[in-house]
Amino acid sequence: MTTRRLVLTRSAAVIGAASSGLLLPEIVRAQSDKVRVGFMLPYTGTFAQLGVAIENGFRMALSEQGGKLGGREVEFFKVDDESNPAKGIENATRLVQRDKVDVLVGTVHSGVQMGIHKVARDTGVLNLIPNAGVHIATRAQCAPNVFRTSFTNSQPTLALGKPMMERGHKKAVWITWNYAAGDEAFEGFEKSYTEAGGQIIKKLGLPFPNVEFQALLTEIAALKPDAVACFFAGGGAAKFLRDYEAAGLSKNIQLWGSGFLTEGVLDAAGDAANGVLTTMHYSDSLDTPRNKKFRLDYAKTFKLQPDVYAVQGYDTGLLLVKGANAVKGDMANKQALYAAMRGAEIDSPRGKWKMSPSHNPIQDIYLRKVENRENKVIGIAGKAVADPATGCRMA
Ligand code: PHB
Repeated sequence: MTTRRLVLTRSAAVIGAASSGLLLPEIVRAQSDKVRVGFMLPYTGTFAQLGVAIENGFRMALSEQGGKLGGREVEFFKVDDESNPAKGIENATRLVQRDKVDVLVGTVHSGVQMGIHKVARDTGVLNLIPNAGVHIATRAQCAPNVFRTSFTNSQPTLALGKPMMERGHKKAVWITWNYAAGDEAFEGFEKSYTEAGGQIIKKLGLPFPNVEFQALLTEIAALKPDAVACFFAGGGAAKFLRDYEAAGLSKNIQLWGSGFLTEGVLDAAGDAANGVLTTMHYSDSLDTPRNKKFRLDYAKTFKLQPDVYAVQGYDTGLLLVKGANAVKGDMANKQALYAAMRGAEIDSPRGKWKMSPSHNPIQDIYLRKVENRENKVIGIAGKAVADPATGCRMA
């Protein structure tokens, strides 16, 4: 039965009950309906795998609660946002206006996030960001109804400069896609690397999601830096790793990255990823019972190895469970719902983290090295790293 018909049938039942003097209180009716969760994620294009991993992780967290939120059944709605910023507002509006979701879970791409952000601020719908790190969403435009469970784009790269310098890599080239995520990852890298005494000799870029790296790799070979640092993710990251190796650069110029470079791509990149060093708020190899159980359960359920995106999706589910349980499924009780999510501590496979006052994780950043198709933790690059939340004033 469609939801609309279900509502009509219910209304008829309520009218019948009213005429017999048995009118159910409003709250009971509202809570017998399903909680409506909308996924706005990329299911096609270079970030397609990221969207799938986030949805899988989210569903796993809910399954652990018997598939319920605050005791209520859940109904899912899905939109493929194609990582296309031009359709961001339209797609988010579809979930909010047509599907009437109680919560919008999305998205991956920072440009698309800005479309969701406008809709979230205009309509007041609860938005949980399971990846996109665009700074402004938890800085100058932070909002009571917007919570991020992932990172800000500069959080991993703020931990990158010091370990590079500790290894004597004094001159670096930076390369990325030219859009908010790449630009903001650079901000963190520039700050941490120059403060540690490093020199950035060239900044290279190409439009998202272009993967024609050849001319830029030739330029890097001519520049002969001590190291290359970058932000790439998804299918584009796998191609970059393969091209970097094929160009002969991995022999002499150490490759570093914001950890997304080696997430979910280690099979596709094969040996080309060996030895790559990255900073990130998660690692497959974290030797904790929490991470081991998560990885086993995820692999059994989805026949896939989880990555940082799966963890972020899972944590998004854990956060919503905390909120929904606190209000016993009454998602309209926004004050209490948000209060339960603000300052929440999430017992994540990445390690326990706390939601900051600007609604972004305060978390450890690991230094990792790829060995045998695994991101091995080789150190802690940052302890309890918080985004500066510049300009955030919660209404
Ligand atoms: C982003 O656009 O914010 C973004 C996309 C993919 C990542 C990380 C950040 O892996």
